Amino acid sequence: MNLLSIADLSSEQLMELILESGRVKHKPSGYMGRLRGKSMVMLFEKPSTRTRLSFEVAFFQLGGHPIFMDTNITQLMRGETVADSARVIGGYVDFIVARVSRHETLIELAENSEVPVINALSDLEHPCQVISDLFTIYERGKKLDEMKLAYVGDGNNVCNSLILGCAMSGVNISVASPEGYEPDEDIVERAVEISRETGSVIEVLTDPREASKDADFLYTDVWVSMGDEKGRKERMDKFRGYQVNDQLLGEAKSGCRVMHCLPAHRGMEITDDVLDGPKSIVWEQAENRLHAQKAILMKLSE
Ligand code: CP
Ligand code: NVA
Repeated sequence: MNLLSIADLSSEQLMELILESGRVKHKPSGYMGRLRGKSMVMLFEKPSTRTRLSFEVAFFQLGGHPIFMDTNITQLMRGETVADSARVIGGYVDFIVARVSRHETLIELAENSEVPVINALSDLEHPCQVISDLFTIYERGKKLDEMKLAYVGDGNNVCNSLILGCAMSGVNISVASPEGYEPDEDIVERAVEISRETGSVIEVLTDPREASKDADFLYTDVWVSMGDEKGRKERMDKFRGYQVNDQLLGEAKSGCRVMHCLPAHRGMEITDDVLDGPKSIVWEQAENRLHAQKAILMKLSE
């Protein structure tokens, strides 16, 4: 089984991962050595702090051997095709974890190897981030189908996976993005289909205040994702009204918690006050990546 999109999981499998992340977090010693003798390559075309470290440490603690490869120092950079590379790599390791510029690269890796391929972020989705985030929400809110999450900002990879993940787990989600920066249309359509089963309410809006109204969780991400640097100036203009600050937080429920996948650009999509304030849960959100990665790796090794 591959994990290229969060929707590669069924709603039941997603819930199992959320629950397993909690068990792993509370008794990490119970899982040591579960993947002894396994190897995992991490092929990264883009920078990473959290995803790289949490996967490496998780796999190591489960008893496996993680191998990090910046694609710049592989033969991919000298023209070896993704398909040929995947055939070879799949003969050596038990998992391929890849962070890529183009989602199609993940599909090609998966089509040309027998081992599970895990999306460690692409231009389209960031499923491992969102599995972990739903675990963070579950830890705080328990009844997922009674929660509302507001996502304010760029309709990017994280937003796409959040829309799908919320639809699958019953969380209501309101997204507010400026015109031209909305989440992927096909993903929204798919999420709406999924929500018919789960009852989740999905809204894609442009007004950040309307989206944030009565939210239990207020989530944001950078205005300029890796690979989007060219449009930086235009983005700065368009996103100005989409900052998560005290005023916007005032629209949400009084017990609202603030989330950000990090890295944050302080003073842009989020203020220092909010990021460092009492409603921020971003540091535990980041820590939970470690626990969730273990749950994901164990599930995909079944
Ligand atoms: N949130 C996240 O994926 O962070 P990194 O880019 O540091 O891995
Ligand atoms: N949307 C951001 C997420 C980083 C973890 C990016 O793709 O750069």
